[in-house]
Amino acid sequence: MLGILFVVGSNYFAILIPQQIREALDLVQGKIQDFKASGGSLDSAEYQVLGRHLLNFGLIVTGFVIVKGILMYFMRQTIIVMSRLIEYDMRKELFEKLTTLDQTFYRSYMTGDIMARISEDVSKVRNYLGPGILYGINLVSLFALTIYAMLKVDVTLSVFALLPLPILSISIYYVSNTINARSTAIQKQLSKLTSNAQETYSGIRVIKGYTREEEFIRHFDNESETYKKLNLRLAKVEAYFQPLMTFLISLSTLLVVVVGAIQVYNGRLTTGNIAEFILYVNMLTWPVTAIGWIASVVQEAEASQKRINEIMDIQPEIQNTSSDDYTILGDIEFRNVTFVYPNTGITALKNVSFSIKHGQKLAIFGRTASGKSTISELLTRIFDVTSGQILIDGKDIKEHNVEILRKSFAYVPQDAFLFSDTIENNISFGLENSDIEDIQKYASYASIHDDIEALTNGYKTILGERGVTLSGGQKQRVSIARAIIKDPQILLFDDCLSAVDTETEEEILQNLNKISANKTTIIVSHRISSAKNASKIIVLEEGKIIQKGTHNELVNSEGYYKELYAKQLLEKEM
Ligand SMILES: Nc1ncnc2c1ncn2[C@@H]1O[C@H](COP(=O)(O)OP(=O)(O)O)[C@@H](O)[C@H]1O
Ligand SMILES: [Mg+2]
Repeated sequence: MLGILFVVGSNYFAILIPQQIREALDLVQGKIQDFKASGGSLDSAEYQVLGRHLLNFGLIVTGFVIVKGILMYFMRQTIIVMSRLIEYDMRKELFEKLTTLDQTFYRSYMTGDIMARISEDVSKVRNYLGPGILYGINLVSLFALTIYAMLKVDVTLSVFALLPLPILSISIYYVSNTINARSTAIQKQLSKLTSNAQETYSGIRVIKGYTREEEFIRHFDNESETYKKLNLRLAKVEAYFQPLMTFLISLSTLLVVVVGAIQVYNGRLTTGNIAEFILYVNMLTWPVTAIGWIASVVQEAEASQKRINEIMDIQPEIQNTSSDDYTILGDIEFRNVTFVYPNTGITALKNVSFSIKHGQKLAIFGRTASGKSTISELLTRIFDVTSGQILIDGKDIKEHNVEILRKSFAYVPQDAFLFSDTIENNISFGLENSDIEDIQKYASYASIHDDIEALTNGYKTILGERGVTLSGGQKQRVSIARAIIKDPQILLFDDCLSAVDTETEEEILQNLNKISANKTTIIVSHRISSAKNASKIIVLEEGKIIQKGTHNELVNSEGYYKELYAKQLLEKEM
């Protein structure tokens, strides 16, 4: 509201300027006539009076310009600042929303698309809220004030001066529509180009390994070519645009001069009025050319806001219904759990039932794609069961406080994702605060301490794109340290020792036994060694439990487990 006041105020002072200039010109004009009538002599006293008058006009005009400038400063300080604050809020809100959304969302939206919404779309809405609204209000108020001032002077001259404006608006409308359509095409092509480049960089090792550089260069070249063509197509319309504008505005000026001269000749106006009108017409120039721009800013913002709302309106399927504070013991039971992946329709688990008491250890075996990781994802509520029930401490998992539930798990996912941060920070990721001794202690449990010490920067080593690349097995062990340092009730290891050699695995398992004494442990594995002292073992095949029992029971009955055991025994002997 304040911004609107400042805009109107600055425009008010802007239109006072031509009026002062008209008065000054008329004064000079009058004096010249007096001069001619008196036969060519004006005394010095009269010169002084004229000079003082002109100085006054000069000062007044300067004063108006300064006031107008100050008001313009405040109009930007209010409206543009407001738009920046809203942009900040919106981006934060969107980011917060994105962190609440679940896997179903992240599987159906591409990363690039999400990034575009949080960066470009928010900026486009901001562009509307700031400059868009600013110049919009400016346009309306300047138009109203100027046209009012013009009509007050002379209706005929106003009509002629404004005559080209409708033609101007209509042509701007058409041209800006064309510009819009072409800009959108450019935007699309640009995002194609960016994702193309992004994929190239991420996959650079594969590309080089298969010597496909030329192919990728050619592809990029083609896309760039299209991008260039689209840009040139836009430049062409824009090239028509400027001259057309200038032509129509000059036409206005010309009409003012011609019609104005006739009016002056008929004694209805003064020469000062012509100057005043030319200034008015020029003042309208910029706002008129901005109409098209404002229209496109509004349209873009509308489209962007829709894309933002689309995400803001998504309700995560997994909602936290409880805010109770309690601790989870770690009794786990699956009752006829069936799970179908929503996006692919793959039935990953079929009627799976098992249970373990707190402090017990469950080992899960099975070929790839048999549904082992799905069990971990259901336990940590990354997904919810399609049918059946999961009970934790005898209570349906859906009734648990999700935050407490997830905090109760030391979950090591199959793909060890680490952040591009120091190793230290990666390990202490799940903790509010931690000390280096703890970090080192748990790194030792995960048998990664020596590896970390061997690095030049030790625990301060930065991982990720611009840092050190750890081997698969090292990454797995860092992510184990990250999980166990939380010291929660349930340990959930999803095939997280697959890239570690058997000896190191034994070592880690022995360390884990020390810290997992009273904890529930679920371990997905391919190695019999990790299942030997499990209270229960299940073997999955195509989502179904095909074997269930203890190590001793299973090695004595025909099936997957016994075969695996025999095979690994043989390997060891060899
Ligand atoms: N996020 C997912 N979306 C769709 N299907 C999935 C997803 N994750 C796994 N699957 C499918 O579910 C089945 C079981 O997968 P998973 O539990 O990862 O097996 P495992 O861990 O035993 O190798 C597989 O057929 C796999 O293709
Ligand atoms: Mg898996």
